[in-house]
Amino acid sequence: MGIVLGIESSCDETAAALVTTDRRILAQRIASQDEAHAPYGGVVPEIAARAHAERLAPLIDEVMQEAGLEFADLDAIAATAGPGLIGGVMVGLVSAKALAMAADKPLIAINHLEGHALSPRLADADLDFPYALLLVSGGHCQILHVEGVGQYRRLATTIDDALGEAFDKSAKILGLGYPGGPAVERLALEGDPQAVPLPRPLLGSKEPHFSFAGLKSAVMRAKDSDQHVDADIAASFQQAAIDCVLDRLKAALDAKTPLPALVVAGGVAANQAIRGALEGFAAERSMRFVAPPMALCTDNAAMIGWAGCERLKTGQSDPLDFRARPRWPL
Ligand code: KG4
Ligand code: ZN
Repeated sequence: MGIVLGIESSCDETAAALVTTDRRILAQRIASQDEAHAPYGGVVPEIAARAHAERLAPLIDEVMQEAGLEFADLDAIAATAGPGLIGGVMVGLVSAKALAMAADKPLIAINHLEGHALSPRLADADLDFPYALLLVSGGHCQILHVEGVGQYRRLATTIDDALGEAFDKSAKILGLGYPGGPAVERLALEGDPQAVPLPRPLLGSKEPHFSFAGLKSAVMRAKDSDQHVDADIAASFQQAAIDCVLDRLKAALDAKTPLPALVVAGGVAANQAIRGALEGFAAERSMRFVAPPMALCTDNAAMIGWAGCERLKTGQSDPLDFRARPRWPL
């Protein structure tokens, strides 16, 4: 059994967690910066980097104390090394390097997307490779064939906005504030998903890629028309997004030999309507459906610690001069 300290600081959550190779989360802390960014309607990189620098060290102390561990007890230190806002990524990665050097422990540089991609295996011991992964967050929107640790084949990506970004932008148009996903989901519960005719970009296209910019513009036109109540716009937007996701998944998976499981991860995976639709999609194809618990969907350090555990088990670590990568495709 090994213990890994995970550190996440690539966007607007500062987080630290202690995770074991046998799937236990010994302690975890997340400091959200939502309040700091809310007045601007989105994440301000400079504010984010400063907040990470202030919050990270105390969070690490807290998880170590809660678990009753010393740095000498750790087997590795894993930190997000990209992709993300470079100032924040550097705060986390440099902290991890300093700890790794001081405690003489291996450093494991984690791709944030790999953290999301492997997170379902932390919660579900029965989820084996390979699986199809729908990775939907504020910055990313991809369908991946996950073949093993470090082995990811991208089947589809977005040609403009990510799905979470479409939720956030629609929320802004509807005056719902930031982050928008949960607010749109709540408002959609009160609306009629058929009330507002909205486009389904790329529906039926053979290429499995996503596009959400046109949907967002249509939401703006619907709002400006003053002909619809906001709840109907929210519900119709969410339904259009679901229709697009299922159609794009169909295009990606029909072109391949069947995979045993469909897995969803990333912040948008917290959306119950999307989870429900994916569950139905998977059932129709006799695929197992796996969605991590809500707390593992949005950004957190347990998923980074777990990705570190997965890499540790395969004997991998990284040099202390590993550079932070603002862009880093899986
Ligand atoms: O994975 P995440 O925490 O950060 C990124 O790596 O981007 O994802 C955040 C995104 C935001 O766009 C947020 O609006 C969206 O996930 N999100 C949701 C929900 N909860 C979070 N979108 C739709 N419905 C939700 N319930
Ligand atoms: Zn994320």
